[in-house]
Amino acid sequence: MISQNTIQQIQSRIDIIDIVGAFVKLKKRGTNYLGICPFHNERTPSFTVSPAKEIYKCFGCGKSGNSIGFLMELEKYSYVEALRWLANKYNVEIEETEMSPEHKLIQSNADSLFIINNFAQQFFSDYLFNADEGRDIGLSYLKERGFREDIIKKFQIGFNPGDRDRFATAALNAQYNIELLQKSGLVAIRDNKPADNYRSRIIFPIHNQSGKILGFGARILKTNDKAPKYINTPENEIYVKSKILYGSYFARQAIDKADECLLVEGYTDVVSLHQAGIENVVASGGTSLTQDQLRLIKKYTNNLTIIYDGDSAGIKAALRGMDLALEESLNVRLVLIPDKEDPDSYVNKVGAAAFNEFIIANKKDFVLFQLNVSLKDAGTDSVKKSALVNQVAETISKINKAEDFTRQQDYIKQCAELLKIEEGGLHALVNKFIRDRITKDENKQSRDDANDAFNNGQSPADIENDALVLLNKDEEHEKAMVRSLLEFGLKEWDNNLRVAEHIFAEIDNNQLEDLIDNKNLIALVKTYKSWYDAGLEPTSKTFLYHEDLAMSTLVVNVMDYNTDISPNWKEFYQGKIATREDLYKEEVFSTVNYLKLRKTKRMMDENQREMEKEHTIEEQLMLLQIHQHLKQIEIDLTRALGTVIFR
Ligand code: CTP
Ligand code: MN
Repeated sequence: MISQNTIQQIQSRIDIIDIVGAFVKLKKRGTNYLGICPFHNERTPSFTVSPAKEIYKCFGCGKSGNSIGFLMELEKYSYVEALRWLANKYNVEIEETEMSPEHKLIQSNADSLFIINNFAQQFFSDYLFNADEGRDIGLSYLKERGFREDIIKKFQIGFNPGDRDRFATAALNAQYNIELLQKSGLVAIRDNKPADNYRSRIIFPIHNQSGKILGFGARILKTNDKAPKYINTPENEIYVKSKILYGSYFARQAIDKADECLLVEGYTDVVSLHQAGIENVVASGGTSLTQDQLRLIKKYTNNLTIIYDGDSAGIKAALRGMDLALEESLNVRLVLIPDKEDPDSYVNKVGAAAFNEFIIANKKDFVLFQLNVSLKDAGTDSVKKSALVNQVAETISKINKAEDFTRQQDYIKQCAELLKIEEGGLHALVNKFIRDRITKDENKQSRDDANDAFNNGQSPADIENDALVLLNKDEEHEKAMVRSLLEFGLKEWDNNLRVAEHIFAEIDNNQLEDLIDNKNLIALVKTYKSWYDAGLEPTSKTFLYHEDLAMSTLVVNVMDYNTDISPNWKEFYQGKIATREDLYKEEVFSTVNYLKLRKTKRMMDENQREMEKEHTIEEQLMLLQIHQHLKQIEIDLTRALGTVIFR
């Protein structure tokens, strides 16, 4: 276990902008920062980070949390792993209260898979360098292909022995679980016995953006028609092919620096280019780029250069994904490597300098390239050609951000020339595609607005289920009470009491269940009370870094995002608008009493229903007395509430 002292040290150094900013490009907006959400596909940024509150929230997909939660969500870290990552980042030495629990005991599959992969990588690297078979077969193969030892080590390349189950036996002896070993793709059951899946293969570990191993690509040594050249990790909790770009961990900084990302097909292409000093390179594995992969690239740069061999099947696949890239406002360029070479063999043949020159001299604009290919394809077929005109117009229409306007005009001009059609006609066609899409987007937007309104507790016309809206509104009141406890609990209520003490005097633990429906909110208040009673001074931050992710997420959801008043407002009113801080007593008063009023109304309803049943005279009198009593409470509460400002 990591000591509380270490955790506190880490917490005190956390800079959420720094942490989230390592994965998402953030722009300052007022007091908050805004970026493209890493958790869902979006074109306009709705991912907000508040440095003051140390939380993030996406107003598109709803994901929210603190720095630790962010790392857990994005990198699939456990709580402890996230802490370790932060400790490493901020140079905090980790103090352990007891030995960390054995790897094998760690629960979650994702955690275990990372651990297994790490074990496997070390085993394979060790075998490559230190076993006779590894050296004689694996290492000599790699060296023959020109890979240097430092590069082999940097990419953690290894070798899986040729024996039936040498790796499987080592892993099982180290107490790794057989089901998880199968899930990892490293071990398969053959003839009822565990066996190595990648026998006699060179192993390329595939790292995520922070350097952890998601899976492996295993290359056969000799070309063999029966066996596949590469076997890759099957999809599992951590290996999700559509989100992986091989080499991204090693390329991040170089991409940032060059403001350009080179995309190649294969593992060996990435490694060889690195060896030649070209480090801003990632590989797609020969399939068309997915939106997730494009987003990964776009975090670092807007300039994507695809380097493929001229007649590979991969080039068609790559081209297919490119409309998406244009939509993302990426500048896509293409370089084709000649003479049946691929980037790996070509850089080995001509050397780093000549390779670089070749890339610079042969970058072609992707849209024009695609058009040229298609034009050749269409030949004199007029039907094909008119389909092509449409396709080109649609592609160009996707380049549609304000800053891309000139680029779009250029394309229209050049494409019209290539197609031998009127520029004005193509222009009109492009505009038609843009209009069509705007109409579609607007329809979608108005649906989204309705949803937003719903989520804010307003009642949009198209939501008929008033009950549901009311229910949500009700929970908002519960949250409001808890929020005022979290934010103002330590402030003074009167001469004797602090706000928290006042609230707990008004609502004791037993009443809590009557007043609040949401079980999680009840648990939160109880935790607050137990901490407070124990002499701690809980704030929302204490909860924010709670080990229980459910608890910290709840706190984020309770916390207020919309209190940031725009600076213009402040100027306009010359600082005279009251903030929640100014009115905290009113807020505490009204949120507590609202819940009481709600409870009273509920009891009156219940009593009313009871009165409608058959009763003895005595019983009826009793119910009536209860009614009058409740009615008086209702009147008092309403009156009291009427004197404070409701917000
Ligand atoms: N690939 C794959 N499975 C295969 C073949 C290829 O996953 N059976 C993927 C790998 O990611 C590979 C990429 O497609 O790196 C490109 O394939 P290819 O050009 O055939 O291999 P190279 O990367 O060039 O490998 P080498 O240089 O060792 O031939
Ligand atoms: Mn190759």
